[in-house]
Amino acid sequence: MLPYLWVLVSICATTLATPSSWSPDVQQLFGDSMKWLDMNYDSKDGYLYDLNTQEALRHETRSSAWYALGLLARNENNDVAEAEKIIGNVIGGQFKNTTQQWYGTYQKYPEEPEVGSPLYAAKIYSSWDPNWRGFVGTTFIIILEEYSELLSAETQQLILDSLVHTAIGDSYRNGGQNGDNLYPSYSNPAIMRAFVSGWVGRKTNDQNMTSAGETYANEIIALFNKTDTLSEFNSATYTGVSVFGLTLWSSYLPEDSAMSQMGPVMLQKTWDAISQLWHPTMKNMAGPWDRTYGYDMNRYVSIMALWFWAYLGRDASSLINQPHLMSHSPDYAWGPLVAVLADTQAKHLPDNFFNQFKTFDKERTFTAQAYYPPYDLEIRNLTTWMSEKLTIGGMSYNQTSVGGPAGTTNPVVVQWITDQEIAFLTLRPSEKALQAEVSPGKVVLSYPSGNADSKFQFIATTFKGRKTLAGIKHMQGISMTPSGNINMAYVTKFAGDNGGELSPSNTFEYWSFTWSMPSGFTGVPQLTLEFEVS
Ligand SMILES: *[C@@H]1O[C@H](CO)[C@@H](O)[C@H](O)[C@H]1NC(C)=O
Ligand SMILES: *[C@@H]1O[C@H](CO)[C@@H](O)[C@H](O)[C@H]1NC(C)=O
Ligand SMILES: *[C@@H]1O[C@H](CO)[C@@H](O)[C@H](O)[C@H]1NC(C)=O
Ligand SMILES: *[C@@H]1O[C@H](CO)[C@@H](O)[C@H](O)[C@H]1NC(C)=O
Ligand SMILES: *[C@@H]1O[C@H](CO)[C@@H](O)[C@H](O)[C@H]1NC(C)=O
Repeated sequence: MLPYLWVLVSICATTLATPSSWSPDVQQLFGDSMKWLDMNYDSKDGYLYDLNTQEALRHETRSSAWYALGLLARNENNDVAEAEKIIGNVIGGQFKNTTQQWYGTYQKYPEEPEVGSPLYAAKIYSSWDPNWRGFVGTTFIIILEEYSELLSAETQQLILDSLVHTAIGDSYRNGGQNGDNLYPSYSNPAIMRAFVSGWVGRKTNDQNMTSAGETYANEIIALFNKTDTLSEFNSATYTGVSVFGLTLWSSYLPEDSAMSQMGPVMLQKTWDAISQLWHPTMKNMAGPWDRTYGYDMNRYVSIMALWFWAYLGRDASSLINQPHLMSHSPDYAWGPLVAVLADTQAKHLPDNFFNQFKTFDKERTFTAQAYYPPYDLEIRNLTTWMSEKLTIGGMSYNQTSVGGPAGTTNPVVVQWITDQEIAFLTLRPSEKALQAEVSPGKVVLSYPSGNADSKFQFIATTFKGRKTLAGIKHMQGISMTPSGNINMAYVTKFAGDNGGELSPSNTFEYWSFTWSMPSGFTGVPQLTLEFEVS
């Protein structure tokens, strides 16, 4: 009897992803983020309070689902009961009317009026969020894959039924229709959609749903194959979601799936690019950035930073000891997801892969291409020069709208190390096309369809060592020399919480430098910036 018992126990121990088997860094990420989430939990209502503080104690759905996963992973005291309560609440708030565009997604918060009622219009990415199907749906799948034996049969069935609504509702999405923007190029939700459809289809023997997931995955893969990069490229937040999704592709689908076949390849290539762009001394991913919620990863929470915490330790990541005080802190609620999947993802990467992230080894120039149709009319070309104290990244593009798909592209990013901070200078997009040529210490910018009204506006860090700037000469730790056919007399402004002509961006106060063209200008506007760190 005894050997049998032992086998049983050891099977149970290996089927549950339990914190005690994780590395000390992953355990710390898990423990710290859960401690913070515990403090934000309202057991009476079975939801987390909204993690954006000062929301008059309203609750929030998506982070509650992430917390439920954390509770199951921890499995102490009444954790499992609380998780079941949250799961019941989240699913109770799922939209179940199949005729509505928001069918299958989850209400954003339980106090919300009925979406689409006379005084509360249905507004995509506002009163309802189409991507929450993917965020909550993937979390539910991890729960079923890793922790179903902790859950009652009723809760397991409830989750599976909810996932069917999620998968069908997500199939309503079509980029360019009804205000939706889900194209296969919108990498992070596209990857989640394909996965949820492929997984739920197999689980429920719905061949149509399975092949819908596979077909969508193949569109994502075909795009990836063009450039060996995700269309939504280099974002400290969203690359973190995409590698999460690719980990699901690689881990929870059978061998006959295009996702399980290509997931590991895409994961590896995506991480290879990250390894080139990560600057261990600056603790930043160098630019250009497709989308960002801040300008220095040491001051805002990003999902990539949570992965770095898992693999490099918190001190080597860009997070401070109290991540909940940083900008964009609600993303700290990703802690449990990252912890639960950290070992799973690492299995798809080479042994000791993360050693190369620990020290800045050599000056280098990284090049890549990325392609995000239909917004990109041509493949984008990205170049990033990395040195010990200075990085310069730029991208050439030709797009259908200013600022790219999400309007938050930072096409030229310079970062450097001063005595007191990681400084940044980034170009505000103002034209649909830009050519950026990066070489050591230098970037040459031109607007191929520019004219006399063209502008080059940069936003730059505030400096602890010099609080009041009158111009570029006062930037700390660097000298910057502009040249070109611009009007050399640029305009300086300040963006502050309490004053200055402009308002902060992503909560970062900044200085703005804007070059215009001489009056009566004709030709291609061109600006060269040369940098030297002091
Ligand atoms: C479902 O939504 C449609 C369109 O908004 C509405 O006309 C219908 O009454 C709803 N059905 C139910 C059962 O609420
Ligand atoms: C099959 O799946 C597609 C895409 O998800 C969906 O549009 C279609 O309605 C489904 N058909 C059936 C019969 O379920
Ligand atoms: C993508 O490229 C891989 C080779 O790396 C190939 O096996 C696969 O069939 C390609 N898939 C698509 C959809 O283009
Ligand atoms: C990027 O480079 C390719 C050649 O490799 C070129 O065809 C394309 O037009 C370039 N894109 C832009 C926006 O300049
Ligand atoms: C952008 O691409 C379109 C379509 O290929 C082309 O007509 C246009 O000339 C390009 N713009 C620039 C500035 O290269």
